[in-house]
Amino acid sequence: MTKGIKIVTIGGGSSYTPELVEGFIKRYDELPIRELWLVDIPEGQEKLNIVGALAKRMVEKAGLPIEVHLTLDRRAALKDADFVTTQFRVGLLDARAKDERIPLKYGVIGQETNGPGGLFKGLRTIPVILEICKDIEELCPDAWLINFTNPAGMVTEAVLRYSNIRKVVGLCNVPIGMRMGIAKALDVDASRVQVDFAGLNHMVYGLNVYLDGVSVLPQVVEAMADPSNAMTMKNISGLSWEPDFLRGLGVIPCGYHRYYYKTSEMLAEELEAAETKGTRAEVVKQVEKELFELYKDPNLAIKPPQLEKRGGAYYSDAACNLINSIYNDKRDIQPVNTRNNGAIASIEDDSAVEVNCVITKEGPKPIAVGDLPVAVRGLVQQIKSFERVAAEAAVTGDYNKALLAMTINPLVPTDKIAKEILDEMLEAHKEYLPQFFQPVEA
Ligand code: G6P
Repeated sequence: MTKGIKIVTIGGGSSYTPELVEGFIKRYDELPIRELWLVDIPEGQEKLNIVGALAKRMVEKAGLPIEVHLTLDRRAALKDADFVTTQFRVGLLDARAKDERIPLKYGVIGQETNGPGGLFKGLRTIPVILEICKDIEELCPDAWLINFTNPAGMVTEAVLRYSNIRKVVGLCNVPIGMRMGIAKALDVDASRVQVDFAGLNHMVYGLNVYLDGVSVLPQVVEAMADPSNAMTMKNISGLSWEPDFLRGLGVIPCGYHRYYYKTSEMLAEELEAAETKGTRAEVVKQVEKELFELYKDPNLAIKPPQLEKRGGAYYSDAACNLINSIYNDKRDIQPVNTRNNGAIASIEDDSAVEVNCVITKEGPKPIAVGDLPVAVRGLVQQIKSFERVAAEAAVTGDYNKALLAMTINPLVPTDKIAKEILDEMLEAHKEYLPQFFQPVEA
């Protein structure tokens, strides 16, 4: 790769793109990017033009010889790419709003990654990512696919199971956010904090925490028990934890665990929000509008701080650190979504897990943790079953599998409610779910 690196970002018109560009600029000395291709679909053309122009200004301001290309032609972009990052949203934020709102009618949290919303986001996204995988196989077979598209765990699972791509890594900013939150609660610099992460995407636990190499897990549990340390992300309520529950759990949950351990309180908050300020998708739409207004300013040549209102803080650090470590064979430790390969004993070897890995030029090598603690093992396995059945439904368009996935999701109370939600959501997302609406043969 001495010629310089070619990166392709699918969903390049996303408001998150300046994060990525900033990350590449910061690391240019180690990560000499020659070409950055931002790819989008015709509906995203306007956003692509705005964000692409900002990306060009950022590169120019930094005085770097990175060529930024904007295109709607995915296949042209992919030719000979070294890294392909994916950050697209099938159906855009309107589809997310439906994912969040429809289940609420049935007294169920929608949630775009964990609940029925996550199921539908997976059903819409997986066929598209598998098409992208076919293009990668043909046009840039040596490239690494770095997926950010949610539900990132389910998408990684689907790529591992249903495509020929093996150089795939699923990424999320939740572990970085947890590490930063812990550092803040301990009032120390994050560089001194290490966390043993293990679980699944948005279902990841800190099994141990170290400050300068010495375990401080009990102190972190106590810090988390303090309601003033919400330790959450912009997109998730910071409802406080029951301190004795945390002490009993004995490991560090992530922000998304509130959906499972505090279901009714979270539901009450979401119902109220839906009535007042809108669901998260509706709030984000407003934030995006403001961001794109800023991005349009020809004098803006940096990532505006307002981007931090989105849940994806540190997103570029996760992506750029990963790409940097693969490219430079850094062998540092990063939490990513990858094939388990026995790292977590209670999950199948060929399933995707989110776990600390040594990042090499051959990709992530997961670090073995053995069995998960009994307190969390069952929930992790249940979510893995949900992800696997959902991925199968996405690929086959099998209604019964989709109903099964909906019903075994822990946020859905009964098979009947699951069916009602499923039917309404299938209809609402029909245009993005052709696999469920094949004409019946005569
Ligand atoms: C967190 C999650 C991401 C998710 C994002 C949503 O960062 O880790 O997977 O996409 O929040 O943020 P938003 O601002 O879109 O609600």
